[in-house]
Amino acid sequence: MQRILVTRQLTEPAMALLRSGAAEGKYILDEWASSGPMPRPELLRRAAGASGLLITLSDKINGELLDAAGPQLKVVSTVSVGYDHVGVHECTARGVQVGNTPDVLTDATADLTVSLLLSTARLLPTAAACVKNGRWGPWHITWMCGADISGSTVGIVGLGRIGAAVARRLAGFNIGKLLYSGRNPAAQALVNHATVRFVNDDGSISSSPIPQHTPLEQLLRESDFVIATCALTDDTKLMFNKERFALMKPTATFVNSARGGIVDQDALYEALTTGRIARAGLDVTSPEPLSPQHPLLTLDNCLVLPHIGSATFNTRNAMCMRAVQNLYAGIAGQAVPFGVQA
Ligand code: DGY
Repeated sequence: MQRILVTRQLTEPAMALLRSGAAEGKYILDEWASSGPMPRPELLRRAAGASGLLITLSDKINGELLDAAGPQLKVVSTVSVGYDHVGVHECTARGVQVGNTPDVLTDATADLTVSLLLSTARLLPTAAACVKNGRWGPWHITWMCGADISGSTVGIVGLGRIGAAVARRLAGFNIGKLLYSGRNPAAQALVNHATVRFVNDDGSISSSPIPQHTPLEQLLRESDFVIATCALTDDTKLMFNKERFALMKPTATFVNSARGGIVDQDALYEALTTGRIARAGLDVTSPEPLSPQHPLLTLDNCLVLPHIGSATFNTRNAMCMRAVQNLYAGIAGQAVPFGVQA
């Protein structure tokens, strides 16, 4: 009988589904009993002989793991939309399908990205900390002043599903201009229905801006808010480097909810401490978790969150269910419904 390995405890409905399949004799279920990650040696050992692996972002799937698993492996199903932790080429070359969980986390991740942008732009953590530790006041005219969203130019780097959902949300904030860069110049179709009509104070009507495909360098020069929602690939690795931060406005806010690997964090630290840019909000870092001693965490103008883009109960459950769906199709020898191509 085929064996599947689940590398950590998932949501209860997903685990119940997986266990009921095992109870019905459809497969042998090998589950890591903890909600934390499976140590690498254990993963290598228990992958051996498995037909399907249900994994998360912390499990690196590379040649070593595929060798350890063996030629019967049919599918690697990750509970994430991002798949930079999976060697897709190596999987494809060995006939192993790779599945991910697009769509179901788009809204939650876009909500978090906009929250991070607003919190960073309006200094919420610093302001809240002042209330708690007796640094509230004396009030003065520019105390805790941040940046306006309304009327601003927003640049989205990587206008895929999540970037477009961020754009749709920001359309409601009366922004002045919406730029985007990325591989797909036609991506603006994703946000076209984001157009929001505003009734101005004088009764006239205006609409939210039409997204404009813009070369990256120009986007960086012109944007008040630069939001990264692109995938981590060989092309985007460390793309936010010293030279790119140098192009940005000294008043700019940089927001990253994509992957830490797209940012040169030393360059970001330098940009934030020398006034090259005004502030940054990061939901992702490299590595994760980031050491509490990391220099970025000493800065008041840098808000760092622990990769919680998709962290709502419903979203995480939907991701788990989608990953189980991919796993089931894969072990049955069918095309996974949400597959990743090399
Ligand atoms: C993903 O699914 O890739 C997200 O980063 C998880 O929050």
